Amino acid sequence: MTQHMKPLLPDRIDTLFINCHVATMADNALSIIEKAALTVTGKTISWIGKEKEIPDLLKTKDPKIIDCHNGWILPGFVECHTHLVWAGSRSNEFGMRLNGIIYEEISKKGGGIFSTVKATRNASKDELFTLASKRVNVLLKQGITILEIKSGYGLNLKTELKILEVIRLLDKNFPLHIEATFLGAHALPSEFANNPDGYIDLVTHTMLPKVKAQGIATAVDTFCEPIAFTLPQTKKVFEKAKDLGFNIKLHAEQLSNSYGAALASGFNALSCDHLEYLSLSGAKKMAQHNVTAVLLPGAFYFLKETKKPPVDTFRDLKIPMAVSTDLNPGSSPVHSMTLILNMACMLFDMTCEEALLGSTINGAKALGLEQSKGSIEVGKDVDLVVWDIDTPADLCYLAGLTPIDRVMITGRIHQTT
Ligand code: NIG
Ligand code: FE
Repeated sequence: MTQHMKPLLPDRIDTLFINCHVATMADNALSIIEKAALTVTGKTISWIGKEKEIPDLLKTKDPKIIDCHNGWILPGFVECHTHLVWAGSRSNEFGMRLNGIIYEEISKKGGGIFSTVKATRNASKDELFTLASKRVNVLLKQGITILEIKSGYGLNLKTELKILEVIRLLDKNFPLHIEATFLGAHALPSEFANNPDGYIDLVTHTMLPKVKAQGIATAVDTFCEPIAFTLPQTKKVFEKAKDLGFNIKLHAEQLSNSYGAALASGFNALSCDHLEYLSLSGAKKMAQHNVTAVLLPGAFYFLKETKKPPVDTFRDLKIPMAVSTDLNPGSSPVHSMTLILNMACMLFDMTCEEALLGSTINGAKALGLEQSKGSIEVGKDVDLVVWDIDTPADLCYLAGLTPIDRVMITGRIHQTT
């Protein structure tokens, strides 16, 4: 039984939303309540149900009333995979790729991630904060209320800490809830070109303990791929990260089957991300350890990939599927969640319901936040968007349009225009 069917009446109500329909995303489905109302007490959803069934007692509490004019309320989007703190531009590489040079080639020639690392190392904390703020503002206007940001364009202690500090400042200065992930093992910096194990030692012995001591990241991610780090190197990072109490995430099976998903599952990872080349045995491991699959159609699209992630297998094995922009300067400079929803449907054959679950409750699962965020249920945080749409599927269908009426984050309304 869903929580909204057995409401506990709150003593106080701050806000009452009326004249709306709600896609709650409870119970792994859209779970629609038409002609609905919901109440907010503090930062918590305190009642939800049919508008005509609002208990008389609640009407006497004198809340602020928000008329949604027949609009739809959905949980705010949970954007669970971005790399949005970077400096510099890679538009030149976009041109190279249009001329047929592939991502791995550009990376091998010192471009790709390395070009962003150079620019990010040279940028001050203030410059990075200004650049990243613009991107966070765009995401806020896209209906994103929960956001994950990875480091990984520093590849030395000083710059990795600088990026994580910028993420902390973004969290402080913006209403969104922001989770920081340490991605020190994103690429091998040129200083360690002949000594990858030396770099992994730096990550495990120096960077991870420092990041932990400063409390500026909750998860650790690694790029396990022939152009980045091997399986044994990834394992070393995870062993230390687990010891220190970090959550685990992995860029896995994006460009080849490197067996990363199976490894990460053994560490009870929150998520494995990309997964185009995932094998059936890797998927079974993910299912066994309740790992969320984060699908990134923007990177698939920008890299002109042809191998799709095994969505049917995820369905069969009941592996939760999240979707995300992967916002980064190289493989996915995509700033729009609604465009990503459309791509998830068009490129990965997901249903609109799957894409919407992927950008809400399953995104929250990928961040370990599903107990308090990602769906509209009594007792959960009020992170919601009122949309001026006819049906939730419009968010997948009207590619790139963002018809937001208003956004509420932890109980407070935020202007998005
Ligand atoms: O998620 N795969 C590795 N990392 C990013 C790409 C970063 C970049 O190209 O700058 C990704 O696709
Ligand atoms: Fe990524």
